[in-house]
Amino acid sequence: MSDGNIRQVLAGRKALVVGVANDQSIASGCAKAFHTVGVELAITWLNERARPYVAKPLAQELEASITGALDVAVPGQLEAIFDRIRTDWGKLDILVHSIAFAPKEDLQGGLLNCSAEGFAKAMDVSCH
Ligand SMILES: NC(=O)c1ccc[n+]([C@@H]2O[C@H](COP(=O)([O-])OP(=O)(O)OC[C@H]3O[C@@H](n4cnc5c(N)ncnc54)[C@H](O)[C@@H]3O)[C@@H](O)[C@H]2O)c1
Repeated sequence: MSDGNIRQVLAGRKALVVGVANDQSIASGCAKAFHTVGVELAITWLNERARPYVAKPLAQELEASITGALDVAVPGQLEAIFDRIRTDWGKLDILVHSIAFAPKEDLQGGLLNCSAEGFAKAMDVSCH
């Protein structure tokens, strides 16, 4: 598909991109690529600590119309973002899920040494 055709298909679409931690995140590349072809963006950050690395440099540069905190392990945050999308956009065309997490202590040993609790947490967040 040529660049022109991609733009024709994607321009004006609405995309939620979850998983931007910094400029190196795969999700950052996705958001930038979407922006170049005219996709309107919602970009989230994990928490207040992550916000300065996401909000100003990226969300602002890419003119994201919806931004906010989204930690899938915090009850209500996912619902809040989707409420915003429903109210402001009325639809969602694209969702990029580019998140992953595992407790630090479960990343130290071999795979078989991972605790059941850590495995469950990793699955809950990474496959949310
Ligand atoms: N980098 C690689 O080589 C590679 C290879 C294969 C798969 N992946 C996958 O690509 C995805 C993105 O990884 P990346 O390399 O860009 O790393 P990254 O650290 O930049 O991205 C991971 C993101 O997950 C987010 N996250 C963690 N816990 C979260 C939670 N509770 N709620 C919401 N977000 C949460 C982090 O804030 C971060 O933005 C991951 O799913 C990763 O497993 C990466």
